[in-house]
Amino acid sequence: MESSWLVILLRTGVQLLALPIYLLWYLGLWGPFCKKAFPHVMAQVAVSYNKKMFSKKKELFSNLKDFAGPSGELTLLEIGAGTGANFEFYPAGCRLICNDSNDNFNKFLYKSLSQNPHLQLERCVIAPAEDLQQIPNASVDVVVCTLVLCSVKSIERVLSEVCRVLRPGGAFYFLEHVVGPPSSWNLFWQQIYDPVWQILFDDCHLLRETWRDLEKAGFSELKLRHICAPLNWHPTKPHIIGYAVK
Ligand SMILES: C[S@@+](CC[C@H](N)C(=O)[O-])C[C@H]1O[C@@H](n2cnc3c(N)ncnc32)[C@H](O)[C@@H]1O
Ligand SMILES: *[C@@H]1O[C@H](CO)[C@@H](O)[C@H](O)[C@H]1NC(C)=O
Ligand SMILES: *[C@@H]1O[C@H](CO)[C@@H](O)[C@H](O)[C@H]1NC(C)=O
Repeated sequence: MESSWLVILLRTGVQLLALPIYLLWYLGLWGPFCKKAFPHVMAQVAVSYNKKMFSKKKELFSNLKDFAGPSGELTLLEIGAGTGANFEFYPAGCRLICNDSNDNFNKFLYKSLSQNPHLQLERCVIAPAEDLQQIPNASVDVVVCTLVLCSVKSIERVLSEVCRVLRPGGAFYFLEHVVGPPSSWNLFWQQIYDPVWQILFDDCHLLRETWRDLEKAGFSELKLRHICAPLNWHPTKPHIIGYAVK
């Protein structure tokens, strides 16, 4: 991506302002602090995000039940479940499997579970989403992932694990922020904030073209829409929303 001199200038300015954080990062102090602090930040962010995105999430998850297995039960795996912000949208009786690569989220996740007694937690899996070894092939009906593909190490590997654990005919639901359209203000600010944003928000990337990975992942059907999320903050407004069927 071509960056203009103005982008380079402003990006460098933002990096200079963040110099103390870079210093802590080089000293190896920032990483552990961020892993501990990020769940507290997300607990706040997720509440306000859910308010603004309520109707979008409601609509997205409205047909989850269509993917229930032959017995009528729905086994749902959420990757990068974080604070459990999506639990309220899952249908009653749903058998939930979830985990996150950061175990500092556990406290918040269990709190959200206790507030959503309509769900039963089948198991917690100890794994990053790139390697879900403990989950057998073709064993879940639905995988959900919101605001996670921006921070995983390899989207390609996560999606190949998702395809492996989904039963044929199962679905992968996603809601992710992505890179803005060419020449947009969104893209302008994303290019300026991206390097510092990654350090501040636990490896969250602003410039990912996540829809391209979804197109290449080998699903039989992909329902994907680009939307402008009703958020105040430019860098994360461009989103993709939808589901893919194995
Ligand atoms: C921005 S939070 C979103 C949390 C939640 N899904 C939500 O929508 O509120 C990103 C989450 O993805 C998790 N995560 C990042 N990389 C991951 C990986 N490789 N495997 C599993 N979870 C990951 C983070 O720990 C964090 O909980
Ligand atoms: C999730 O996995 C981590 C290790 O990646 C583990 O320490 C933690 O206990 C697990 N949490 C839940 C809720 O399963
Ligand atoms: C599970 O799926 C993977 C990839 O789709 C395949 O390589 C592997 O042989 C399968 N394992 C079993 C036990 O069927």
